[in-house]
Amino acid sequence: MIERINGLLEEIKNSTAANADELEALRLKYLSKKGIVNDLMAQFREVPAEQKREVGVKINELKNAAQEHFNSLKELLANKEEEQCEIDLTRPSSPTVLGTRHPLSIVRNEIVDIFARLGFSIANGVEVEDDWHVFSSMNFAEDHPARDMQDTFFVEAHPDIILRTHTSSVQSRVMETSQPPIRIIAPGRVYRNEAISYRAHCFFHQLEGLYVDKNVSFTDLKQVLLLFAQEMFGKDTKIRLRPSYFPFTEPSAEMDISCNICGGKGCPFCKNTGWVEILGCGMVDPNVLELCGIDSKEYSGYAFGMGIERITNLKYQVKDLRLFSENDVRFLKLFESAN
Ligand code: PHE
Repeated sequence: MIERINGLLEEIKNSTAANADELEALRLKYLSKKGIVNDLMAQFREVPAEQKREVGVKINELKNAAQEHFNSLKELLANKEEEQCEIDLTRPSSPTVLGTRHPLSIVRNEIVDIFARLGFSIANGVEVEDDWHVFSSMNFAEDHPARDMQDTFFVEAHPDIILRTHTSSVQSRVMETSQPPIRIIAPGRVYRNEAISYRAHCFFHQLEGLYVDKNVSFTDLKQVLLLFAQEMFGKDTKIRLRPSYFPFTEPSAEMDISCNICGGKGCPFCKNTGWVEILGCGMVDPNVLELCGIDSKEYSGYAFGMGIERITNLKYQVKDLRLFSENDVRFLKLFESAN
């Protein structure tokens, strides 16, 4: 029996466990109720009296050795698991949540990019403006309805101070401080006293263009706008200019592009006309040049102005203007891939 126990001791010393199942098998084999150690205990009764002491010590030794070996294998396994956790290079990293640009910024950047390639630089004005830059220098008559409270936000303490209703005010700011050649675009926010609905808001964004130099003609204007339309909406885009009126341009026009949603065939978006309006434009009225300190006999110019929301709607078919200013992350997320 002593020999058998010695053999078992050796066996235990050499046993290993690569995983929890193998460890459990070892426990069952040696230490469980029906395990080898208990078996030997049961046989202990039959051991002759003179050997009892020696065998009892041996069985105890075996029991302790089995328990100790089991404990150390268990610890080894636990350590191994922990180590594996720490250096598991295959674990995917936690996702980095990327922000998205606002659709209006995406589209504005795109427009700015197109005009920058044509040599236009960016000019900035101010949103809280005075009557002169928004209206008077832009050739608005004293009694023009746009000056009405119903259309314009006045800063109460100052009847002359208003929120700009269009970016054309930047035209006059640039012209009064510089001489031609002038070639600028001015993107920015404008304000109008309108009830908020899905198709109107009390603030929105425009992008103004102004080119003043010697011999600037309507042909130049048309060519630049055609190029812009095709860059923005695709090479097959057609443009059409309709006569219009603005106090600060003469002649004035509104520009339509062939509907980029139906390709000009007619759809609800273009009200089945095949055309959608995108901007106002014209030759800078000589009065405006003079009011801003530029000699209208020597110089001529063109100007255009477009709504960035309008262009964005055409590109992305946003049906409700209010979505642009509600900061709903779910809406903004839709533009992730356009960044
Ligand atoms: N300022 C005009 C508007 O707000 C747009 C425009 C700009 C028209 C420049 C002609 C020239 O509607």
